[in-house]
Amino acid sequence: MSDTSPPKRIEIARDDGRDVEFEPCITVFTCIYCGYTSADTAGALRLSYPPNIHLVRLPCTGKTDVLYILKAFEEGADGVYVVGCSLGNCHHVRGNERGKARVEHAKKLLDAIGLGGERLEMFFVSGGMGATFARYAEEMTERIRKLGPNPLRAKGTRVAVGDESKP
Ligand code: FES
Repeated sequence: MSDTSPPKRIEIARDDGRDVEFEPCITVFTCIYCGYTSADTAGALRLSYPPNIHLVRLPCTGKTDVLYILKAFEEGADGVYVVGCSLGNCHHVRGNERGKARVEHAKKLLDAIGLGGERLEMFFVSGGMGATFARYAEEMTERIRKLGPNPLRAKGTRVAVGDESKP
């Protein structure tokens, strides 16, 4: 059964002492093929999705090194997710399967260090799935909003890993 209660808003304190509503900062690794194209399609269809996501393009999600993921969290991302081609349709044959395995490994590491593997996810899309890309952005933003700020992030600061503008 899905949770239908309104999202919990989390207040964080800024350096100047005023409380502001927490807005997650999310790093998204996409492959340059279906992953990024789905974001582009969302833009072409003028679909709106939260501005909380910051895209980082990789040649393939098989290039998603666990260190990239951990670095994103270390730099202050509240959440990270990876968007690649559908399983069986990776332009580098099985790269997305390697990416999936690395994401699963990184989730375990995040659980072990107390950050929580639920801050990390992987999705598979085709290039035409702009609406799905937008929905994943909304779902992840809402998930991270509920989880709250990255405990590694200095109080009240915002850091974006990857600053490529949206397509
Ligand atoms: Fe898209 Fe490999 S090229 S996941």
